[in-house]
Amino acid sequence: MMSDIKKTRLFKIDSTKPDNALIKVAADAIRSGLLVAFPTETVYGLGANAHSAEAVGKIYAAKERPSSDPIIVHICNLAQLEDVAVEIPDLARKLASQFWPGPLTLVLVRHANVPSIVSAGLDTVAVRMPSHPVALALIQAANLPIAAPSANRFARPSATTADHVLNDLRDRVDIILDGGSATIGVESTILDLTGSHPLVLRPGGVTLEALRSVVPDVQLLSKYLDADDAGIVAPGMLLKHYSPRATLCLFSGDLKNVLSAMHDFAIQEISMGRRLGLLISITDQGHFADIPAEFFILGHDLNEISHNLFAGMRTLDAAGVDSILVHDFGRFGLGAALWDRLLRASEGRLIRC
Ligand code: TXA
Ligand code: MG
Repeated sequence: MMSDIKKTRLFKIDSTKPDNALIKVAADAIRSGLLVAFPTETVYGLGANAHSAEAVGKIYAAKERPSSDPIIVHICNLAQLEDVAVEIPDLARKLASQFWPGPLTLVLVRHANVPSIVSAGLDTVAVRMPSHPVALALIQAANLPIAAPSANRFARPSATTADHVLNDLRDRVDIILDGGSATIGVESTILDLTGSHPLVLRPGGVTLEALRSVVPDVQLLSKYLDADDAGIVAPGMLLKHYSPRATLCLFSGDLKNVLSAMHDFAIQEISMGRRLGLLISITDQGHFADIPAEFFILGHDLNEISHNLFAGMRTLDAAGVDSILVHDFGRFGLGAALWDRLLRASEGRLIRC
């Protein structure tokens, strides 16, 4: 249902001191109802004027995103918050002063100025103030809140570079601002403040430990805990999301057992003639020296691993592997967000060791 096929314009832009003239071109595009993909500190966003139902409709079409999946509204100052949400609780202001600009999204009661298509018909709205200079400059120059989901085709790994956006959305987006790779690499933490308790709907760039320092009673949506504790996740239980084309198998448990199970599994896959991809940390590398596979090294620590996660899935896909083996990275800090993305990318193929 792509109504207006267009030629995507790609502009390189300095990510620390964005060029005003380029920002103006992109902001004018937003103001005239077009789509602009832009870098944020988490992942690239696919932006449109959040006050225009027609412009936001183009986001759903470009991504082939189901109309039941609501979109985050991005703002650049607290005055815009008043134009996006109502009945804003004190806790939201406290969290905003602590974590904005930054990778925290708050779910609040939606202002009538935000068309319901943004929130897929819900009475709530998800809002965040990104810290990336290009994102802030764009919102400021457009002088509008910008609705933006991650700039990937629906259910694909999120885009952390302009190249990823181009691969998924070429000629479906009017402008891409290429500000280099997104620093954090996983999406924002989503915190719902409209229920009886503050509830994390998605772990992300702001860690649960950091949130707990401000909201000690914060809860985590039970599906993450269930998957963690029950030891079994039925395939299909989890929404297909963040998925590479290859079959991703997630290993979890004691690291020594995990590495040995991954090694056995790898040998079995190869003996069946399947092309294998390994998504591993630097310290795991030596363990697979005898395995003829495509390797993508995620890095040393949780920051590097998060930064490289989606690029790793996309790179292994591009290499044409049939399956990807990866293990989890604990549940602390960014480990919780990694667990969530990997579990969903695996579509429930979780191997407990
Ligand atoms: O870091 C991020 O959050 C990135 C960058 C671009 O800001 N955006 C992002 O958007 O990850 P998206 O659309 O890929 O994921 C947003 C999630 C969706 O899964 C949606 O279900 C949830 O936010 N969401 C949006 N509005 C909501 C609402 N009103 N209530 C509950 N969940 C909501
Ligand atoms: Mg997304």
